[in-house]
Amino acid sequence: MRERRLRSDAIPRHVAIIMDGNGRWAEKRGLSRNEGHHAGLESVRDVVRSAHELGVKILTLYAFSQENWNRPKGEVDALMTLLDRYIDSEVDEIDRNGVQVRVMGRMEDVPRAIRDKLEAAVERTRENEEMILVFALSYGGRQEIVDAARQLVAAAEAGKVHADAVDEKTFASCLYQPDLPDPDLLIRTGAEWRVSNFLLWQIAYSEIHVTDRMWPDFRKPDLVEAIADYQQRERRFGLTSAQVRTGDLEDA
Ligand code: IPE
Ligand code: IPE
Ligand code: MG
Repeated sequence: MRERRLRSDAIPRHVAIIMDGNGRWAEKRGLSRNEGHHAGLESVRDVVRSAHELGVKILTLYAFSQENWNRPKGEVDALMTLLDRYIDSEVDEIDRNGVQVRVMGRMEDVPRAIRDKLEAAVERTRENEEMILVFALSYGGRQEIVDAARQLVAAAEAGKVHADAVDEKTFASCLYQPDLPDPDLLIRTGAEWRVSNFLLWQIAYSEIHVTDRMWPDFRKPDLVEAIADYQQRERRFGLTSAQVRTGDLEDA
C-alpha cells in the first residue's frame, strides 16, 4: 500500500499533468503513434479515478496543445476521435463519481461534433462537487494570455477599465478558468524537462515533477510517487526557509 506514504493533510489541491510520451512509447514497441495515443487513454481513465481517490480536488490534463494542430492530419484526426470516444465511454462514470468536467482552450478550432459533446458533458456535470476535471484542449499558455489581454483592451476601449486599475488579480480574472486556484503540482511524463506552452501564468509557483515514465505506462503508483515527491518540498514563495517554518515574516 504505497498510498500510506502520503500525508493526507498535504495532498495538492490542484494537480496539472502534461501527458507526454505516447509516440515514443509506441515506437519502442513497433506500434504506430496513434496506437500510443490509444494506449494513453487507459492512463487517463486510471489517473482521473486515482486523483479522485487520493483527494485531489482539481485535475487539469493537457490533452492537446495549440501547436499540436500542426501535426500530420492523420494524427490530429486520430486524437480528436479518441477524445470523442473518451467522452462517450467515460461521462457516465465521471458524472456518477461527482466529477465536474471543464474545458479550456480555443474551442472554436475543435470540430463541431466534439465541441458539442464536450459542452454537453460540461453542462451535465456542472453541479458536481467531488472533483473538477479540466481538459486543456486546443490550449496554449501564450494564447490564453493574449486572449486575456484582448478582453482587457476591449474593456478599456469601452471605458470600463483604466490602465491604473489593471493588476495581477484583474488580469487573472480574464484567464480561461478564473475561479480555479493555481496548480500546486505540475507533473510531466515522458522525461522532457520543458513546459511546452502549458499554463504559463498559473505555474508561477507550482512544484514540478518530471518522470521518465511514458504516459501510456503512467498509473496510480506513479501519481502517488509524484505526490510523495511534492510532499518533500518546501514551498517558499520567495520567502526564506526560516520565515516559512516559523510563519513569522519578520524572521528573515
Ligand atoms: C503526448 O504524446 C500526446 C500529445 C501531445 C497529444 P506525444 O504524441 O507527444 O508523444 P511523444 O512525445 O512524441 O513521445
Ligand atoms: C505537450 O506535449 C502537449 C501535450 C501533452 C498535449 P508535446 O509533445 O506537444 O510537447 P513538445 O513538442 O515535445 O514540447
Ligand atoms: Mg510529445
